[in-house]
Amino acid sequence: MKRYVIKLGGSIITDKDEPLSINIPTLLGIGEEIAAAMRATDLSLAIVHGGGSYGHPSVRECLDRKGVMDEPCYVRTAYLMSELSLMVTQVLIAAGVPAVTLTTRSVCAMKSGRPDCELGIAAEMVGRGLVPVIFGDGVLSDDGYEVMSGDDIVWLLAKAMGDAEVVFATDVDGIFDKDPRKSPDARLLKEVSAFEALKYVGGSGRIDVTGGMRSKLVKGLRHARGWGRAYVVNGGRRWNLFNLLTGKPFIGTVVWYQ
Ligand SMILES: Nc1ncnc2c1ncn2[C@@H]1O[C@H](COP(=O)(O)OP(=O)(O)O)[C@@H](O)[C@H]1O
Ligand SMILES: [Mg+2]
Repeated sequence: MKRYVIKLGGSIITDKDEPLSINIPTLLGIGEEIAAAMRATDLSLAIVHGGGSYGHPSVRECLDRKGVMDEPCYVRTAYLMSELSLMVTQVLIAAGVPAVTLTTRSVCAMKSGRPDCELGIAAEMVGRGLVPVIFGDGVLSDDGYEVMSGDDIVWLLAKAMGDAEVVFATDVDGIFDKDPRKSPDARLLKEVSAFEALKYVGGSGRIDVTGGMRSKLVKGLRHARGWGRAYVVNGGRRWNLFNLLTGKPFIGTVVWYQ
C-alpha cells in the first residue's frame, strides 16, 4: 500500500497577502482529489498544513517586536492555528476525506532545539484508514515557546508511518533552477537531489517565518537522510495531486534526500 504525508502549504490554503483568509475553493478541490484517489486506489494518508496568513503574520509580529515567541504570542498562535485547522478539516470532510484534527502542541515539543513528537496514535489512525490532520504550531520548548514548522512535522510523521513519501502541495509547479516568482524564465526540474536543489532555491520571499522552499530541503536532509523522498507540486493545479497519488503522470519535482 502506498503511504503519503501530504503537506498543504500555507500559501495555497490561505491567501498569504490577506490576513486571516482561507482559500476554500482550492482546499475543496484538493479534498475532492484526495477523496477520489482514496476511492481509486489503496492509500495510507496523513495531512500536515502550514500557517499561511493565520499563523505567520501573528508570529512575525511578535518575533520582530521581542525576538522570541513569548507567552501571549504562543497563546494567540495556538488559538489561531486551532481555528484554521478546524476549518481545513471541515472542508476536507465536506469533500469526502475522513479527516481528523490532531493538535500539534499536545503531541509535540522542542527538546534541546530538536522537534520531538509522539505520533503513535496518528500512525494508528492512518492504519485504520483515517486521515489525521496536523499543522505547524507554537509548541513548548525547554524554557519557553517555539514555532514548530509543518515542514519538520511531515518527516516525523512520514517516519512514524513507516518511511512514507512526502508530497509538498505548494503555490509553484515544483523546484525550478531559480525562484519562478522572481524569474519567469525559470526551468522546472523533474528530479533532483535535495543537495543539488539547495543551489537553486531561496526562501519564501513572502510572510513565511519558517524558511520557505529552502527549509523544505534542509529539514528533509536533517530528518530523512538516506530514505526520504518527496514530491513538490502545485496544489492549485486541478487533478495533478490525484494523478500523483494514483500513479499517473503529473507535473512536479521528485526530490531525493540522499
Ligand atoms: N528555486 C525555486 N523553485 C521553486 N520555488 C522557489 C524557489 N526558490 C524560492 N522559491 C519559493 O518558495 C515558495 C514556496 O515556499 P513557501 O512560501 O514556504 O510555501 P508553503 O506555503 O507551501 O510552505 C514559492 O512560492 C517560491 O517563491
Ligand atoms: Mg512555508
